[in-house]
Amino acid sequence: MKADIKNRKDIELLVNTFYDKIKTDAVIGFLFTEIAQVNWETHLPRMYDFWENILFYTGNYNGSPMQVHKELHSKCPMRPEHFEHWVIVFTTTVDKLFEGEKATEIKERALNIANVIMYKTLA
Ligand code: HEM
Repeated sequence: MKADIKNRKDIELLVNTFYDKIKTDAVIGFLFTEIAQVNWETHLPRMYDFWENILFYTGNYNGSPMQVHKELHSKCPMRPEHFEHWVIVFTTTVDKLFEGEKATEIKERALNIANVIMYKTLA
């Protein structure tokens, strides 16, 4: 039986594992590495804050994801398949590492946020 997501350390493991896969992902990897040319040293801590705030209400995230993804979309049009794939990779990563209430919650939140970002970005 796997453990649930309990704290920021767990979120760091999840986020690091997820983006390790994304960097070489055949479907959406290029959006991060070639189009956006992400600076991982700043992006990863921002993502720890983002997910920690969602799961544990820390109030430590104050970015604007909509703007970031709209900008990306203007550089290289994204499609629903990209978002669907993002959700599959995220969900698979959660399932590989964790199980429990918070693990279920983060998958649900990821799916919902992915849909919101997708509809607003592709509109
Ligand atoms: C195909 C799908 C997606 C792609 C290609 C994508 C790509 C990106 C890129 C390139 C950045 C900017 C990184 C940087 O330069 O620092 C970013 C930021 C971010 N993304 Fe995504 N993303 C996707 C889906 C999602 C989803 C579904 C979520 C949430 C569930 C999400 C949450 C975020 C957040 C919170 C940020 C940081 C915004 C900020 O505060 O600056 N992304 N994403």
